[in-house]
Formats: sequence, structure tokens, C-alpha cells
Amino acid sequence: MLGISRTTRTTVVSTLQRGISRGSPHHRLGGCLLCPNTTTDTTQWPRFQSTAAQADDDTNNNTSSTRLSTEDAEMIRFPTKDGEGKPVLLNAKEHAVGYLSKILNARVYDAAQETELQHAKNLSAQLQNKVFLKREDTQQVFSFKIRGAYNRMAHLTKDQLASGVVACSAGNHAQGVAMSARMLGCRAVIVMPLATPTIKVNAVRVHGGPTVEVRLFGNNYDEAAAEAKRLKHEEAMTLIHPFDDPYVIAGQGTIGMEILKECVTQPLDAIFVCCGGGGMLAGIAAYVKRVRPTVKVIGVEAEDAAGMTASLREGRVVTLPGVGLFADGAAVKTVGTETFRVCNKLVDDMITVNTDQICNAIKLSYNDARVVLEPAGALGVAGLKKYVEDNEITGQTLVAITSGANMDFDRLRFVSERADGSEKTLAVTIPEEPGSFRALYSLIWPRNVTEFSYRFDTDDRAHVFVSFQPVKNIEHDFEAVMDSLQENGFGCLDLSENELAKVHIRHLAGGRAHADHERIFRFDFPESPGALQRFLLSLDFHWNVSLFHYRNHGDDFGRVLVGLQVPETCDKNLNNFLRTLGYQYVEETNNAAYTSFLRHKDSVDSTTPSDTTSD
Ligand SMILES: Cc1ncc(COP(=O)(O)O)c(C=O)c1O
Repeated sequence: MLGISRTTRTTVVSTLQRGISRGSPHHRLGGCLLCPNTTTDTTQWPRFQSTAAQADDDTNNNTSSTRLSTEDAEMIRFPTKDGEGKPVLLNAKEHAVGYLSKILNARVYDAAQETELQHAKNLSAQLQNKVFLKREDTQQVFSFKIRGAYNRMAHLTKDQLASGVVACSAGNHAQGVAMSARMLGCRAVIVMPLATPTIKVNAVRVHGGPTVEVRLFGNNYDEAAAEAKRLKHEEAMTLIHPFDDPYVIAGQGTIGMEILKECVTQPLDAIFVCCGGGGMLAGIAAYVKRVRPTVKVIGVEAEDAAGMTASLREGRVVTLPGVGLFADGAAVKTVGTETFRVCNKLVDDMITVNTDQICNAIKLSYNDARVVLEPAGALGVAGLKKYVEDNEITGQTLVAITSGANMDFDRLRFVSERADGSEKTLAVTIPEEPGSFRALYSLIWPRNVTEFSYRFDTDDRAHVFVSFQPVKNIEHDFEAVMDSLQENGFGCLDLSENELAKVHIRHLAGGRAHADHERIFRFDFPESPGALQRFLLSLDFHWNVSLFHYRNHGDDFGRVLVGLQVPETCDKNLNNFLRTLGYQYVEETNNAAYTSFLRHKDSVDSTTPSDTTSD
């Protein structure tokens, strides 16, 4: 926790924020920034103009643009790093209604918890900013979605509750509606596509109760949504929308309220909010830009599902032709009409991040909070990191919402494969001759090699697939490695951003080769710097390495497959080499998988009467 003392202050905002503790009546609403010389600084954020006063006014058809007289106005200085504070004028009269009121009156705390604002120490040190995580993943349903769903349902009339609710979702919204239905004792039908994984169906059943029915219907989301609409009309049930509803938006807006409450006496520069349909982004922006307008609210989307970014750019709701499903919780083709309206007025900027950046954010969040976030849940952290790096920002106080942790366990393998943001991948061409493998490696050494795939070819050249981590403190270290490889006659190609290479080619590199006298060994290399160097240095210079495959899987030892072309006369030397090297190994020269897939039928055999092992 931030550990901020809640000192008494006489401003409207502090009164407002003191009044938002669980269930307390809010005796005074307000807070405005209509003074022309104290509005949000939008100069850094040219894309979207923040006019904080407008969204609420429009919600309530309140077109008043009354200028403040000095008596009406109250001045507030928000804390900043240097302690000075930027003065902002506030006016209690201007917007006693609208989203501010809806958020302050939101009924969320029967079902949701006020979550921790956790100092992310490692991320702060790495990015040289003070970074906090708003831990929405710690809600009972492991996502923030309970706030909006419960607030919407708690505001239904008795008759509406008696008729029941319907929702269509295969994700976190479904769990929020199910839990809310259980708490409010109302009937709920959750429609999910037929192919929804059992784990998600079960999660809804667990959070729901006897009044909650899961109906599996349709081959995709659209067909399931059509069934939900049919139920709404034919059975007079109330449809609970996942984002495009003022009560849902207001429920999610309570996250913004909690953040500001924690930060009353602290500087706060920006909040990074993941965006799918835009409910959470709109809710947080509606509160923050009203109450503490100097704080930037920045939306983060997956770059292959960036519907809000596209819509804000076009100035209208845009339907994407398709969306990537990696951050499935936030994969929405069409953002809401209402969420767009609010975001268009209040959000300072949007950032898009790619799959690797999301995986990296999952890892960074794990390092700080020991939580495995789902991809959508890590968008805020990924966006925060990108924003800091792109804008070279230091010394600021930044918050990222960690919005959900309903992570499918089976996806962890992919995430960990892609999570290392510092890993660079190269295709290198080397002359097919003894010693060139060692020469190549010595140009990369002592950098940490995380992957190495090499297979002999009958040509005079061979292609190597290699990944490594450039040295962090040396500027342009990766470029320096590429230069030195080129200077030494090793043509190389940067594949670090190449999706085909990273998903497929890394597993296919190599193949069947015409390598005479080849012997194959499966080694356990100690997972320590220098293990490969030691192997190469101990190797007889005259033997050709015809195959080498290694990928770091986080084991306590590295699993390495090696092919060596060893003339029959050298058997004794080979045995000596294996013994003095001291690494565990198993010879696989007669393994059917090797002979079927990696050895050319015309290759001259080695004499391997019985395969050997180190044991
Ligand atoms: C974990 C998570 N993060 C973010 C989002 C996006 O929320 P919204 O649709 O309110 O933008 C969702 C939506 O379900 C989610 O489940």
C-alpha cells in the first residue's frame, strides 16, 4: 500500500474523497476545473483533447457553460514531485450529477473489495519511475468485472430482478454477472458459445448458484449474443451489457475513485487502463478528469484489437473487421457508443502493445506481485512500460491497473516463450567448415545465449538460428554484435520481430542432412554462463559440429542435442572428450527419431556398436 496519511483538508476534492469510504453517504459532491488557465495540460497529448467538464454535462443534457465567479470557485493544489503543486479551480455547483454522482453512488462494495495499490518495486527500479499496480486481479472473481456487473444489477427494480437477467460472455463478465445474481438472489442465464472451454463454464457455475443457468448456444460469440437477445425479448429478462451501460461504466469508475483516494497527498502523473469495449477506461476517465484533472488517463489496447484507438482517431465508432484473440478478455470488434462518447472527451491518449510486450508485462507483474495475469489483465503494465520507454520519462508516479488473472494454464508455455523482452533473435549464415561455429559463438560471448539451432548442410554454408540477451548497460549492444558478425564474414538478419520465425521457424530450423560419420548426443549442460564456451573449447578442432540445438526452458540444466562428425579412428579421443567434459549425456545415434527425421539415407554410418551414456 502507499501508506498515505489522510490529513484533513478543506478543499472540495478532499471532502469528496473522504466521503467515499464504503457505504458512507456522500454529503457533498463536486469538483470542477473550469478556470481557463488551469485546465489539463494537453500539449503533450495532441491526439485527443481532454475537456473534462463535457462528458458529465452531456450525460445529463446540461449545456450550461456558466463562467465561475471567484466566490464560486475553490482552488486546489495537487501534490507534485517538487512539492509545489499546480493550482486548479474547482466549482461545486457545476456537476453535482452525471458520472461523478453515479460513481460516488455506485453499489459495488457488497460484492467487490477496495483493492490494494501496490508499489511495484522492481518495475519502479527498472523504469526509474514510481510504479504502482492497482490489483483488480485480487477480486473474488479475479477481475474488476464484478464492479460493473454488480452495480448494474443492484440498481434494477424489484420487478426487473424478479424477471431475471441475461448476459452473453465467455469471460470475466460472465463470472461477474453470476456472482452478482447469487448475491442478489435473482435468476440469471449466461449464454456462452458451444465451444467455450469447460474451465470457463465451471468458473461461472462456481461463482453463481442455484439461480444461475449456463446455456451453451451457437458456434461463435455472435450466435450466442443473438440467443441472449432473444431471451431478453421473449422472456422479458434484462440484458446486462459488459461495457456499454452507464451503471457498468460507473461501477468500473470506482477503481479511479479508490486510486485518487489513496493518492490525495501524493503526486500522481498518469493511470494506464486496459481497454476492450471501453467500460473501465470511460469510468476511470470520468472520475479522474473531474476530480484530479492533472492526472493523465491513458488507454491501452492490444495492437490487433485496437477498436478504441481506431474510433478515437476517426472521431466515430469504428467496427474492426477482425480482432486478435491473444488478449481475449479485451478483444472487442466494436467499442460501445457511450464508452466512446466519454473516452473521446476525456481520455488523454491511447497506446497499443503487441503480443510480446503483453507477455513481458505478465512476467514483470509476476516478478513484483507474484501474480500470473491473463493477457488482457497485463495490458496496463505493458502500456505503462511502453509509454515510459517511448517518451524517456523518469521520476514520475504512474499507476497501471492489473485487471484480471483468469489465466488459462495451458497458455503459460507460450507466454514464457515470448516473455523475455530483452531477447534478440538472429539468422546467421556461416561457412560450413570446422571451427566456424566456435568463431561465431566467440563473437556473441559473453552474452547470455538463450537459443541456438544449427544443422549441417551439404552446401558450403549453413544457417544458424540464435537468440541472446544483449548487455543491458551497453547502449546499442545488439547493433554492435550484428556489426561485428558482419565484419567477420557472418551474414546476419534480425528476426527479433519476425512472427513466422518466432512461432514456427525456430522449431523447424535444420532438418535431414547428409552428414557422414555423424554421432548424436543428448547432453545436460549446466545452466550457467560459459557452459557452451567450455564445450566448444574442449572439442577437437578437427571434428565438425553438424547439429546443435538448444533452447532455454528455465530448467536447472540446459537440454542440448549435438551432432559430431567423428572419423572412426577417433573413437578413443571422443570417449576422452566426453569423460573430461563431465556433462551428463546419452548417445542417440541409433534413435529411430533421429534416423527417420534428421539423417540422410545415403550418409556414411559411424561404427556405434552400442550407444553410450555417461552413467
Ligand atoms: C481482464 C480484463 N481486462 C480488461 C478488459 C476490458 O474491459 P472493458 O471492456 O471495460 O474495456 C476486460 C473485459 O472483459 C477484462 O476481462
